[in-house]
Amino acid sequence: MLALAVVIVLSYLIGSIPSSIWVGKVVKGVDIRDHGSGNAGATNTFRLLGWKPGVVVLAIDFFKGYSSSFWVSQLAYFIGSGPVALFSFWDVDPFLRIVCGVVAVIGHMFPIYANFDGGKGMATAAGMLCGIEPVSVGITAIVFAIVMFASRYVSLASLIAAFIYPIVLLVLRYGYDWPIAGSVLIFGALVGLGIIVKHKGNIKRLIEGTENRVGSFKPATG
Ligand code: G3P
Repeated sequence: MLALAVVIVLSYLIGSIPSSIWVGKVVKGVDIRDHGSGNAGATNTFRLLGWKPGVVVLAIDFFKGYSSSFWVSQLAYFIGSGPVALFSFWDVDPFLRIVCGVVAVIGHMFPIYANFDGGKGMATAAGMLCGIEPVSVGITAIVFAIVMFASRYVSLASLIAAFIYPIVLLVLRYGYDWPIAGSVLIFGALVGLGIIVKHKGNIKRLIEGTENRVGSFKPATG
């Protein structure tokens, strides 16, 4: 139990790192949440600060999810056998990876270091799912890129990606037996639902035709 608690807290603290907020403060002395879409994420960083800070934030946010599901989860084995005893009805390894990854996404959305006002979770969710099963994430990323370049709306691409990821996984079940694939599916769908809910402002703007498009660079002023 202690092992599980430690990796959960660690994943939350890693997911909480508000990269876009800190990069915004370092690069321009601004709180990114006061500009552009107001979102503490990579898209708003690209929009407000340019491609270099955008790539840095995207990489950090992705890595927060990946490191939590792929590495932090494995720390549990070094700490103790608590999770094995408690969750013997479930395959321990995927369980740990999924729980740590989901907690990192929650940390990104509600970061302890930034008044619980974080981002929408796309990059962190992609990283988290990549640490569990990269093939479905790769296919979803291709769909994301096609929608983004065709429509020039990142939010639309994110919404479609969040919606289709569980379907891609369902079709592939790549390398997993059903209990494991089912677990990833349920949590992948829950994360997708969280991402869609976080995009409610974007959905409104898309419907009204006022959503920001890729390339609408709006430099933030300090
Ligand atoms: O991943 C976030 C993206 O889908 C939307 O970002 O800044 O346009 O709200 P933003």
